[in-house]
Amino acid sequence: MSPGAAAAGPAAPLIVYRGVRKAFDGREVIAGIDLEVYPGETLVILGRSGSGKTVLTSMLVGLTIPNEGSITVGGLEITQLHSDADWRDLRLQTGYLFQGSALYDSMTVGDNVAFPMVQHTLWDAQEIARRVHEKLSQVGLAGVEPLDPSALSGGMQRRAALARSLALDPRIIIYDEPTAGLDPITGDEISSLIRRLQTTLKVTSIVVTHDLRLAELVADRVALLYQGAVGFLGTYQEFLNSEHAEAKRFLHREEAQETAP
Ligand SMILES: Nc1ncnc2c1ncn2[C@@H]1O[C@H](COP(=O)(O)OP(=O)(O)OP(=O)(O)O)[C@@H](O)[C@H]1O
Ligand SMILES: [Mg+2]
Repeated sequence: MSPGAAAAGPAAPLIVYRGVRKAFDGREVIAGIDLEVYPGETLVILGRSGSGKTVLTSMLVGLTIPNEGSITVGGLEITQLHSDADWRDLRLQTGYLFQGSALYDSMTVGDNVAFPMVQHTLWDAQEIARRVHEKLSQVGLAGVEPLDPSALSGGMQRRAALARSLALDPRIIIYDEPTAGLDPITGDEISSLIRRLQTTLKVTSIVVTHDLRLAELVADRVALLYQGAVGFLGTYQEFLNSEHAEAKRFLHREEAQETAP
């Protein structure tokens, strides 16, 4: 068991899903999920495309509303939150890196990172500029504030989007496919950055991916979504050795991709 998972054991979970279900047009995508995320841990959610990873995690910021079940964050029942005002405190504490993590093209990189601060705080321009610089420095992009997003490489754009998710000093960060579409070296850089943010900021992280390299580098525990439920839950090492049929299929397919010419 990894140190993170061992440390996580005795603490009360920060995030708890109980009997969570979600259907679209009568088709159940999430079919009764029970899952805990412990303070300070990084939980990697794996699963094939369409297995419901984005649906499940976007519930934590109110972008998807479950049909049934309970989700608590720090003891707060979030299925009972309805208005933007109800959601405000939780959204301030949660950084969400969207799948694709697009920056707003019409704004400079600095204004992109400042955007959540302008929207959600009363900080003055000087304070915002200081914090934008701090967040961009944290992701290794100090000084790019005046550039247009199109002037950045794909990996730098992903970093800038990450800086934007850090804007409000979240205690929970959800990364949806943070390495998708990047070459393996840039993907490794993003993985190391996520690892570094874990240790320096002590945040609780959920990382959605099908990138096994990323999972290996950042996971305290791995949850594999399969047929709307958690098919496997354990450390990355346990996942590698798992006899669960979908875990084996998942690993085999990834190996097959890696050895393809
Ligand atoms: N708003 C929606 N309306 C209808 N169906 C939806 C909606 N959102 C998601 N789905 C369906 O739910 C299923 C799970 O989608 P989800 O985006 O969570 O998959 P995923 O595991 O994140 O996949 P990927 O790895 O491709 O991002 C898919 O079949 C998708 O088409
Ligand atoms: Mg997705």
